[in-house]
Amino acid sequence: MPAQEVVTMDKVVALCKRRGLVFPASEIYGGIANTYDYGHYGVLLKRNVVDAWWKAMLEERDDVVALDSAIIQHPRTWEASGHLAGFTDPLIDCRTCKRRFRADHIGELECGRKPSRHPGEDGQCDLTEQREFNLMFETAIGPVKEAGSTVYLRPETAQGIFLDFKTVLGFARKKPPFGIAQVGKSFRNEITPGNFIFRTLEFEQMEMEFFVPPAEAEEWYRHWLQERLDWYVRLGIRPSHLRMRAHEAEELSHYSSATSDVEYLYPIGWSELEGVANRGDFDLNAHAQASGEKLEFFDQPSGERYVPHVIEPAAGVGRAVLAVLCDAYDEDEIGGESRTVLKLHPRLAPVKVAVLPLVRKDGQPEVAREVQQLLRGRWSTEYDEGGSIGRRYRRQDEIGTPYGVTIDHQTLQDRTVTLRDRDTLEQVRVPIAELPDQIERRLSAPWQSPKTA
Ligand code: GAP
Repeated sequence: MPAQEVVTMDKVVALCKRRGLVFPASEIYGGIANTYDYGHYGVLLKRNVVDAWWKAMLEERDDVVALDSAIIQHPRTWEASGHLAGFTDPLIDCRTCKRRFRADHIGELECGRKPSRHPGEDGQCDLTEQREFNLMFETAIGPVKEAGSTVYLRPETAQGIFLDFKTVLGFARKKPPFGIAQVGKSFRNEITPGNFIFRTLEFEQMEMEFFVPPAEAEEWYRHWLQERLDWYVRLGIRPSHLRMRAHEAEELSHYSSATSDVEYLYPIGWSELEGVANRGDFDLNAHAQASGEKLEFFDQPSGERYVPHVIEPAAGVGRAVLAVLCDAYDEDEIGGESRTVLKLHPRLAPVKVAVLPLVRKDGQPEVAREVQQLLRGRWSTEYDEGGSIGRRYRRQDEIGTPYGVTIDHQTLQDRTVTLRDRDTLEQVRVPIAELPDQIERRLSAPWQSPKTA
């Protein structure tokens, strides 16, 4: 069955909770708006996504260096970047139901008292004028909140890169075109409904600022659009569920002369996965002016001095994880029983191999442990001996484990095991000694979503 007919946000949310991938934070206190925790398999999946990003940025090229800058920067950062004045959402409050709405989304939102209507449509609605609300979280340095102590949790990782541009240039032995990449948490006081991990108050970003000679900006912008789209395809997302959408002039951020979003067809419709922006020289100029530091590049051989332009691919880890989950979610039938399965690209699967003794006796658990020992360290493995073999397979299918190794009575006689494929359900008999090679061969083979029509 094609994915769009099967997958819904509710089903993905339920699976994530059931298997402990992602679940609401602070649940014992009733939860907290738009905030989620990642459990064991969620952590592994997220880590695999982030590793794939670093691989694409660092290992597969040699013109990008890594950075890990602070979350709390000097407060003047946000004055210079324009976030203090301009990083706002237009809000409207309803005095009757006490709910708050994004003014620019009012036509899609539900009235607090009459959910079948939009805010303002009911006679009892009493809406305030629209006002601008800054999305940055404020906090203070020191025990007393006094003048000058206010600082902000960064709303994007990008600014830390601009602040460190000169320092990195000094030791990286790179010249434009080159990039600085970082992964880390950002924070935004979002009031729009979050749609699970699509929009959260705190989220991880994978951002790279690529500094280029001004005349090459357009060419590198096109380059990164293609690179970033291709990266999602390499994660196994079906190309038919990905598209590029250029921003209209009125959508552009204050710093951008051109932006395109990589969009994914989530169950909620086409929405932004990642933005690729041409930021020009806005940020380096703004910080140079505010700090008095020269943030430019001097090309010794030519004697040329210029402020590089910046192309920025900015991705969200949570949105990538959600896209991967939605794309992989499937339901099918085995022997008359329905099965839910995550057909994840094997490189992203939290567990690569499950090791399962058929029964918990007759020496099978001991051999199974030995088999796990053989595989452990090379791949993430899981040993499971509890419950019927069918239930154990279902469990592994739901967390997207691509391969299952089963130890049975025949194993004790001839030291062979069965190797089960999550997607084709094919089971082949393999000598234990050959397992690592067989698994390696399968895991490194080119992969395409089995859901591709
Ligand atoms: N430095 C540019 C920048 O931050 P953005 O489009 O606001 O641009 C980049 O954010 C990416 O970060 C988005 O495409 C999205 O994947 C992710 N993101 C932004 N806000 C988010 C939120 N509240 N929750 C989850 N992810 C978010």
